[in-house]
Amino acid sequence: MKITGKTKIVGIFGHPVHHTFSPLMQNAAFNAAGLDYCYLPFDVKPENLKLALNAIPLLNIKGLNITIPHKEKVLSYLDEVTDEAKFIGAVNTIKTDGEKLTGHNTDGRGFTMAFQEEFSATVEGKRFLIIGAGGAAKAIAIQLAIEGARAIIIANRTFFTGRELAEHLLEHFPNCDISIIRLKRKEISNVMEHIDVLINTTPVGMKPDDPLLITDEMFNPDSVVCDIVYNPKETILLRRAKESGLKTMSGIGMLLHQGALAFEIWTGEKPPLSVMREELEKAL
Ligand code: ATR
Repeated sequence: MKITGKTKIVGIFGHPVHHTFSPLMQNAAFNAAGLDYCYLPFDVKPENLKLALNAIPLLNIKGLNITIPHKEKVLSYLDEVTDEAKFIGAVNTIKTDGEKLTGHNTDGRGFTMAFQEEFSATVEGKRFLIIGAGGAAKAIAIQLAIEGARAIIIANRTFFTGRELAEHLLEHFPNCDISIIRLKRKEISNVMEHIDVLINTTPVGMKPDDPLLITDEMFNPDSVVCDIVYNPKETILLRRAKESGLKTMSGIGMLLHQGALAFEIWTGEKPPLSVMREELEKAL
């Protein structure tokens, strides 16, 4: 990569940011596409978020990814926010246009694009069980509802948080059948035969000694299983599902596509997906 006086700067605001794979993935993409952009990590402490955001147009930064812990906070400092990001209540991508900052959220669409690529099918008309109700679950659930999912069941450790997400979905998407269950084996087993897709959005599975939230006998053989954890590439949940004959999707696809969508928002160009995927696979 050759940085000159003309190179356009994009990057990521987070705290911490040392774990992020985005600089590798995005810089490889700019290189492959022959675009004179450079992607940098910015460790921004929560108390400095407003100042850092104010500096974006002053420093002529063209775009940003926003990650933990700023995704929700950032909303109130932007000039415009897409409907998608407003529904989700979080922004993971900013595009600068002169002085104006526009917030987007590519997490949910990152998931549905990965789903489409993996299973050659849309999410429309399908029934989902989502484990977890955090930021990622919210982005995914809202995107599924936007794209016409028939039913979404939320199962969260903290019932109250799950109920909040379910109520939020019900308010905006009356045509989607939304329900909530407890994260208990019996309750999950009872709904398994009524779902087409199971999605784990919790961090359970990142550590080798994590418990199994779903055990083999609970799987619906006619369903597919997705995990948003990408490190390890194959969680124990996905391994067991695969061994039980189910099709699976790891978190790499969502990570890739949320980044690819951000690339497109900043540059207006089609992202070089295979290069980005290769870079991620290498880094992982
Ligand atoms: P993110 O914004 O990245 O999705 P988050 O907001 O911390 O992360 O959400 C993590 C989700 O994983 C939450 O739904 C959390 O459940 P709680 O609402 O009960 O906290 C869930 N989660 C985290 N650790 C878990 C565990 N050990 N078992 C079950 N669920 C867990």
